[in-house]
Amino acid sequence: SKKCNRLVDVGRRQFMRGGAFAVAGAAAATVTSAPAQASPANAQLDYPSNRLANVADLAVNEPMDIEYPDADSPGILLKLGQAVEGGAGPDGDIVAYSVLCPHKGWYLTYNAEDRSLNCPGHFSRFDAEVGGQQIWGHATQNLPQFTLRVDDKGDIYAEGCSDLIFGRPSNVL
Ligand code: FES
Repeated sequence: SKKCNRLVDVGRRQFMRGGAFAVAGAAAATVTSAPAQASPANAQLDYPSNRLANVADLAVNEPMDIEYPDADSPGILLKLGQAVEGGAGPDGDIVAYSVLCPHKGWYLTYNAEDRSLNCPGHFSRFDAEVGGQQIWGHATQNLPQFTLRVDDKGDIYAEGCSDLIFGRPSNVL
């Protein structure tokens, strides 16, 4: 048990040394964390509230072309027929996505059979039923999903975006 205590002592000393390093590390982290915390805030912006369509204009699984937040950002508005992540409207099934591939900006096409968005450039695929999650391919982010709000008249408004739209250095218009 003496041996045991010695080992415990060594362990305690090493722990103390490690602790000193940890404190130094924490101090360094404090110095550098201010700009790191500032950047997500810079990436936020107030997107405009743009009316895209009315619920009555949509048929299940027939995408409508839209532009949001401006004319340089094409997208689709889509009623999926069953409630999904980020889905708006009375049935929780209306979604909207950018159709600019996050990889290099090719135009995505919608495949109504498996409800995916597909890139003819390098074949990335994104799931319209799961928030634009990438299924396969070269892109390194999911597809930007537009945040929707539906008012009591059934008008559908886009009011935000989940990820960086291709070609934009930040989410600032
Ligand atoms: Fe879409 Fe490359 S531009 S995968």
